[in-house]
Parts: sequence; C-alpha cells; structure tokens
Amino acid sequence: MKLLEDRIRRDGDVLPGNVLKINSFLNHQVDPELMMAAGQEFARLFKDSGVTKVLTCEASGIAPGVMAAYELHVPMVFARKKKPATLNDAVYWADVYSYTKKVTNQICVEQKFLHNDDKLLIIDDFLANGEAVKGMISVAQQANAQVVGVGVVVAKTFQGGTAWLKEHNVRLEALAKIASLADGQVHFAGEQ
Ligand code: G4P
Ligand code: NA
Ligand code: NA
Repeated sequence: MKLLEDRIRRDGDVLPGNVLKINSFLNHQVDPELMMAAGQEFARLFKDSGVTKVLTCEASGIAPGVMAAYELHVPMVFARKKKPATLNDAVYWADVYSYTKKVTNQICVEQKFLHNDDKLLIIDDFLANGEAVKGMISVAQQANAQVVGVGVVVAKTFQGGTAWLKEHNVRLEALAKIASLADGQVHFAGEQ
C-alpha cells in the first residue's frame, strides 16, 4: 500500500534492535483516515473469504482491526492481555512470548465470542516473530473456528513470522513488507 509506505518513510523512526517506531499514526497516536484505508484494503483482499469476525489483540491491533471489521460488516473481537474482571466467564488462553520484552504473557478471549462456525480474519499491527499471531491462531483452534487468513499493517519479513505462516499454509496479507531495517534505513521488499 503506497500511502502506508510513504507514511512510514516520512514518519517512521528505526530504533536499535530492528524496531520501527511509528507512534505518530499507529502505535500511540492513531491516524483514523490511514487506518480506514488499511481497513478498506484488508476488506478488499479478504472479500471472498466469508469472514464472519475479525480477531485481533489489544492494544495496537484494535485500530486496524476495527476498520477492517467495519468494512467487512462483521464484529471485531480483541484478545485481552489481562485477566478480565469477570473471572467466572469461560475463556480461551494462549501464551505469547515477546522477543522484544523477553517475557511470556497470556492472551485471552471469552469463549462466548468465538464459535465453531466462525471464519476468522486475524489482524495485527506488526508481524515480527509471529508470536502474537500464533497465540491468536491457538485461540481460534481452541474454539474450533477457521482462520481464513492473517492481515498485518507491517510485516518485517526478515523475522520469523512471515516464513512460519507460509510453512503452515496460512494466507498472509501485509500492507507494507519490510525486508530490512539495516543501517537505520527502511528497505521495503522488492526495492533495490
Ligand atoms: P511478535 O508477536 O511478532 O513475535 O512480536 P515481538 O514479540 O517481537 O514483539 C512484541 C510486541 O512488539 C508486539 O506488540 C509487536 O506488535 C510489537 N512489535 C514487533 N516489532 C515491532 C516493530 O518493529 N515496531 C513496533 N512499533 N512494534 C513492534 P505488543 O507488545 O502486543 O504491543 P501493543 O499491541 O500493546 O502495542
Ligand atoms: Na501488536
Ligand atoms: Na505493538
């Protein structure tokens, strides 16, 4: 998505450790028009997949997730990272290891929001090592729901998540594909 690549070039900062900081439009301040454009693109890409629900993860998946859901006319469910106050409700859990923070956290979704006839589109802000996406796939599997694909705003294709999804035959659509962040520069896939 050209609009997104241009915005990354203009406003993105490359931090040590292969991290792209895009806090001015996605990870802190949110640009709703850009997120709507992302949602429209996800909806176009997955329009024939029979999506019944978007599944994402708080916090930064919510903005692109809700826009995709809006365009597909389906609900969005976001996995929570803290135990809900209503502990009585049955939940699906998954462990998510964060390479950036070197800790394992849990994500959870109340069972009543995922069904065995759901066709889920998993949306997230970043795909890096894929741990968050693997956790969401695990949650979907626990619900016996089908995952029709994964859509991410940014895939860092040089980290493990992109290859893992391909190996497991999971459709991946990334609106920006970053092949390298070497030398503090953003190199998009397919560029010289
Ligand atoms: P992974 O899920 O793909 O394995 O990612 P990893 O463990 O490496 O990263 C953990 C967190 O960092 C995730 O957000 C992930 O989206 C985010 N992240 C990964 N690479 C980048 C990057 O280059 N730039 C930015 N800005 N974020 C990155 P999270 O902890 O779930 O945070 P949030 O969703 O609450 O913001
Ligand atoms: Na995220
Ligand atoms: Na994030």
